[in-house]
Amino acid sequence: MSESITIALTKGRILKETLPILARAGIEPLEDLDKSRKLIFDTTVNGVQLVVIRGTDVPTYVRHGAAHVGVVGKDVLLEHGAEGVYEPLDLGIARCRLMTAGPVGWKQSGARIRVATKFVNIAREYFARKGVHAELIKLYGAMELAPMMNLADLIVDIVDTGNTLRANGMEPLEEIASVSSRLIVNKAAMRSRYEGIQTLIDKLAAAVEEP
Ligand code: ATP
Ligand code: PRP
Repeated sequence: MSESITIALTKGRILKETLPILARAGIEPLEDLDKSRKLIFDTTVNGVQLVVIRGTDVPTYVRHGAAHVGVVGKDVLLEHGAEGVYEPLDLGIARCRLMTAGPVGWKQSGARIRVATKFVNIAREYFARKGVHAELIKLYGAMELAPMMNLADLIVDIVDTGNTLRANGMEPLEEIASVSSRLIVNKAAMRSRYEGIQTLIDKLAAAVEEP
């Protein structure tokens, strides 16, 4: 590729599922990501670099053009916004659902519901659309604890197998959105580095289709 391309990857479970797709597209880090404290890596493709950061930071890097391309969960895009980026490809990995959940058998009694979540923007919009008066309580993790501790009535969280909810006496209620990881591209870079980025998108799309 003639012009360099920097890809921002979400660390953690998304990274584990992204690396095989990148490998099928011919892009492999030159070092073992797990064994290095580095955050930026050269790859087998000249001019293509990987940076490994928190999911919530990926849209920021890509929006500002510090990274040209990124991989991030749809939940993060819905919560933090997707201005300045295109979303050309669903990578189909880290699939899960954003749901409301509550203690088993919970029924609304008062007019107001207390909802604990780290997805406050998504939850605010969801309950407003339903005409439900929700008081939102921002948490940064372990949302399932909030109803048990009487901090909240319901939570809005990621659900995959439902094991975390079950283990804490809760059940899923309503689906807000279906989530998977997306490829995002800086809008200006899509024009200025069209050839390199379009080639990358095509290779990744083919890699996603492979069994
Ligand atoms: P951070 O490291 O920024 O605090 P986090 O702890 O939420 O984020 P992960 O739990 O690795 O990080 O989740 C990263 C992304 O993976 C989420 O944004 C979501 O898209 C997806 N995800 C989260 N939980 C699951 C799950 N149980 N099954 C499948 N995908 C999931
Ligand atoms: C995520 C999410 C839920 C759980 C749902 O947590 O926050 O708690 O997965 O998955 P399940 O329905 O299969 O149980 P994760 O395991 O990533 O831990 P975290 O709280 O550190 O993010």
